[in-house]
Amino acid sequence: MDSTYSSFEHRLKDNAGKIEALLNRLLDDASLDDEIVRPARLLSAMRHGVLNGGKRLRPFLVLESAALLGGDADAALRIGAALECVHCYSLVHDDLPAMDDDDLRRGQPTVHIAYDYATAILAGDSLLTYAFDIIAAPETQLPADRKMALVLALSRAGGIGGMAGGQALDLAAEKETPDESGITTLQAMKTGALIRFACEAGAIAAGASDEDRKRLRLFGEKIGLAFQLADDLLDLTADAVTMGKATGKDAARGKGTLVGLHGQEWAEATVSRLVTEAGDLLSAYGDKANILIETARFVANRRN
Ligand code: IPE
Ligand code: IPE
Ligand code: MG
Ligand code: MG
Ligand code: MG
Repeated sequence: MDSTYSSFEHRLKDNAGKIEALLNRLLDDASLDDEIVRPARLLSAMRHGVLNGGKRLRPFLVLESAALLGGDADAALRIGAALECVHCYSLVHDDLPAMDDDDLRRGQPTVHIAYDYATAILAGDSLLTYAFDIIAAPETQLPADRKMALVLALSRAGGIGGMAGGQALDLAAEKETPDESGITTLQAMKTGALIRFACEAGAIAAGASDEDRKRLRLFGEKIGLAFQLADDLLDLTADAVTMGKATGKDAARGKGTLVGLHGQEWAEATVSRLVTEAGDLLSAYGDKANILIETARFVANRRN
């Protein structure tokens, strides 16, 4: 075992490897039943936007939440891959010139730079659609009511009242800075909603009780906010090589962030408070929840 990595980091990397292998298979050039063809250039752009590293944090949360509540690992892996497709689509579109206008993502040229704008838009569209295909497909071996609940929850997390709506509020906040509650809302939507879904999805896939599902959902909300606060702190303090994406851009673009509003110290204190609160929520599960609690800490202390 490589001693530079903790056992938590090994587990994260191990799961990332499994997710990547599955995504690689899902983004194969052979078309599925009722698909006519998979255009080579579009598929290649999708692969560029998905199979390019990334922490794979959201699938990890799905897997570990499902494991905590006794869910099936293979089904959780497919739900995690579906969620990663939505996440990667959100990054491809987030980087477009009409949005954050970024050239670098995960240490590589962004999809619209490596291909072209239209292909980047369509790669995002295809990834979003594919996420629902992956959940609904027979290979995801879950009872139909759980699949339906997953489709509904992912739709709500990704759409107008979730990630996409949050991105709209984020762009509007470049022109008129919202107050603290406005920024918290936009962050809960643009980033928090998919992370909340990741945690809740594990519970849904496991067929957990309403109480467990709510607890995991609340845990996801807390770490989702902590995650975006950490991202905003890293934008201020980290360098582009470590991050694999441009930094120092939020202030330059006048983004409405809590770091901008209240400063670094306040943000750091808030991240650690959220991580503590998130951990406390899982105390009912005892040691079984240690991995998720470590994940909350990882979210706060990550370096990229
Ligand atoms: C970046 O997400 C976008 C935000 C929501 C802040 P991640 O930091 O999880 O990016 P990858 O997937 O590891 O590249
Ligand atoms: C991105 O937030 C949120 C989504 C992609 C939905 P950011 O714009 O801060 O993410 P980065 O910093 O480009 O990764
Ligand atoms: Mg953005
Ligand atoms: Mg961005
Ligand atoms: Mg950012």
